[in-house]
Amino acid sequence: MKAIRISEFGLPKVMELTEIDRPVPKSDEILVKVYASGVNPVDLVVRAGSNAALSYNLNLPMTLGWDTAGVIEELGEKVTGFQKGDAVYGVPNFPGEGSYAEYVAAKASRFALKPYNICFNDAAGVPLAALTAWTAMFEFGKLKMGQRILIQGASGSVGGFAVQFAKSIEAYVIGTASADSFDYLRQIGADELIDYKTQKFEDLVKKVDVVLEVSSVRDNNEREKSVQVLKNNGILVSVNTDFPFNEEVIHALDKKNCRGELSANQARKEWLEEIGKLIESGKVKVPQGKIFVLHEAVEAHSLIENKSVNGKLILQVREQDQ
Ligand SMILES: NC(=O)c1ccc[n+]([C@@H]2O[C@H](COP(=O)([O-])OP(=O)(O)OC[C@H]3O[C@@H](n4cnc5c(N)ncnc54)[C@H](OP(=O)(O)O)[C@@H]3O)[C@@H](O)[C@H]2O)c1
Repeated sequence: MKAIRISEFGLPKVMELTEIDRPVPKSDEILVKVYASGVNPVDLVVRAGSNAALSYNLNLPMTLGWDTAGVIEELGEKVTGFQKGDAVYGVPNFPGEGSYAEYVAAKASRFALKPYNICFNDAAGVPLAALTAWTAMFEFGKLKMGQRILIQGASGSVGGFAVQFAKSIEAYVIGTASADSFDYLRQIGADELIDYKTQKFEDLVKKVDVVLEVSSVRDNNEREKSVQVLKNNGILVSVNTDFPFNEEVIHALDKKNCRGELSANQARKEWLEEIGKLIESGKVKVPQGKIFVLHEAVEAHSLIENKSVNGKLILQVREQDQ
């Protein structure tokens, strides 16, 4: 089968279209015939080898890609709840062999049935970003109906899902983003918007229950400001797990009896099913990504790195016949 692999860390050009054996699923795995694979910031980090802790655990050569939509081709003998031919979406075993490939074998527990009302290309942009938002907001942020949440980076792939999930439980959503994204954010239900380029959220926001940092910013001074806008006993959740809270942030949190959490996404079938129901009911809209074909992975990564593209990029692996 064809796969985009790296045998060394580095610039986008280290990704090569290679012919390798089709993987064989283990007893708890499914073999997915990949239709499309989402491209996420972490793919670029893995490819570049820029996170030492992550790179240390990786065996090269390897296939990138941890956002998948496709059809089940084979099931391991212990897998239940799926059958051959099911259309599924999910996150293959991170940070192992990924889905920039014609097939991927991965744990069945990290997949669910694809929402019927979206195509494979759109579905491939959902799992990683949506699970990142879900884990951070509900598992770590404990967001509840009627609470107030500040979502920093509301216009991003993770942020867009976070806004919609928070609205689905009738929370009050304040989002930070650049003004270009305000129309989109109003359409998906944000209650208040702050342009991070011209406004200071710390002057405009008070007493939120949860601050959710899903922007690309890594800055502990900004986090200290986030603590200022929390209620006592509030929760600051960041998905930027590669950038720990410093002493000042921890001290600021302690002074207000607040909690700080670094949230890594958890790929759980039951959450993907909940997310699927929200998509099927129309409560959550999936943004359309920019489509590249598999062998254009180098171009896709380069565009993201040069910041010459907005929104989600998708690598289409097969024609969308379903
Ligand atoms: N922990 C995990 O499991 C996990 C999983 C996936 C992603 N992540 C992390 O989550 C973050 C977001 O990922 P993504 O895929 O959503 O990226 P993305 O689509 O590139 O979104 C990043 C967003 O950050 C916003 N932003 C930039 N500077 C900002 C600022 N000063 N204040 C507020 N917002 C700002 C941008 O807004 P504008 O476009 O409006 O300027 C952009 O929409 C990344 O840092 C990524 O590494 C973590």
